[in-house]
Amino acid sequence: MTLLVTGVAGFIGSNFVYHYLDRHPERTITGIDNLSYAGNLDNLSALTDEQQERFIFVKADITNPDQVGTIFEDYPVDGVINMAAETHVDRSIHDPQVFLKTNILGTHVLLETAKHSWQKRGAWKKGAKFLQVSTDEVYGTLGESGFFSEATPIDPHSPYSASKASADLIVKAYHDTYGMPVTITRCSNNYGAYQFPEKLIPLVITNALHHKSIPVYGDGKQVRDWLYVEDHCRAIDLVFEEGRTGETYNIGGNTEKENIIIIKEILRLLETMTGDTTITQELISFVKDRPGHDRRYAIDASKIRKELGWSPRVPFQEGIDQTVRWYIDHQDWMARVMSGEYRDFYAKNYNNRNF
Ligand code: NAD
Ligand code: TYD
Repeated sequence: MTLLVTGVAGFIGSNFVYHYLDRHPERTITGIDNLSYAGNLDNLSALTDEQQERFIFVKADITNPDQVGTIFEDYPVDGVINMAAETHVDRSIHDPQVFLKTNILGTHVLLETAKHSWQKRGAWKKGAKFLQVSTDEVYGTLGESGFFSEATPIDPHSPYSASKASADLIVKAYHDTYGMPVTITRCSNNYGAYQFPEKLIPLVITNALHHKSIPVYGDGKQVRDWLYVEDHCRAIDLVFEEGRTGETYNIGGNTEKENIIIIKEILRLLETMTGDTTITQELISFVKDRPGHDRRYAIDASKIRKELGWSPRVPFQEGIDQTVRWYIDHQDWMARVMSGEYRDFYAKNYNNRNF
């Protein structure tokens, strides 16, 4: 199977490349990414020499049909895992257009190219597959009780979640109309290494290490269900291999936490691990709430557990300890991805292909 993974230079994409090449020592990945502000090839610099031989990187934009078409012609792609996306809710509030373009039109370009290529090559009948990585945010928000199941109607509130929900519907339409072999995963909030420091957990760590204030939206009592990124990668791998065509699988950590609790725990860990007693709760600053802020997300992951035997392996305390330690040990990485200074350098020097 020649696997095309999109968004490989991002947070989950890079973690997935490490996971997949490690878990499947005989397989290769062709990875693409347009190296947006969130995509850094630096994230893949810990691949071993042997793993690099099984990894081809192509700088390409999923919204560009010519670039995607060329990749399908040059490599006999018979599996697609689409993770490329614009992903930050706050950015989507300020500038929705690129979210609609990448998340909706980009997904359509991939589907359409895969459909043509697979029909032409007869790959369809030989087990070709398309997995769309989606999010629990498509379901909207919950009150104090209840969980999102796969049967929960989609009800997105931000331009980000609306664009992801739209993409899901198009993926489903390609299954229902053309018989495309698709699966969709919808996961809760991830945390771990290589997450761009605009999302809550790496932002809190970065700001605290620089003694900058930590913006808490509204009352800080919004609830997210946190999952260690490696558990998500394992679930994506499993659904791609064994998930039933046309089905959606929810993935969650069963770890609901209020934002303010997470923030206080990170500050406690940072103070203990660095010995810097000026990293205190004094850094917390309550700010204006995010417009349309979803109050609570919680995932019912019983379908993937029952059908595929998946459940999270990394308990939150273990995962957050490792994550805080990783960012402390990779402050040079943080500085580089924030400045973007290495992006062009790597694009020129690391790529096997460059459009
Ligand atoms: P990320 O922002 O860290 O990475 C996204 C990657 O996609 C970046 O490397 C970026 O350069 C690339 N990209 C953006 N536009 C592109 C384009 N037009 N063409 C090619 N590449 C492009 O995001 P992430 O957190 O790694 O999320 C990956 C996927 O997982 C997304 O689809 C997201 O919706 C989904 N997801 C994320 C979470 C989470 O908590 N982070 C939870 C559930 C689902
Ligand atoms: P985020 O990491 O942006 O993920 P998402 O909005 O996709 O769940 O935010 C997680 C939660 O943290 C969300 O409730 C918004 C909140 N938040 C803050 O309070 N302050 C911040 O600076 C950020 C980035 C997020």
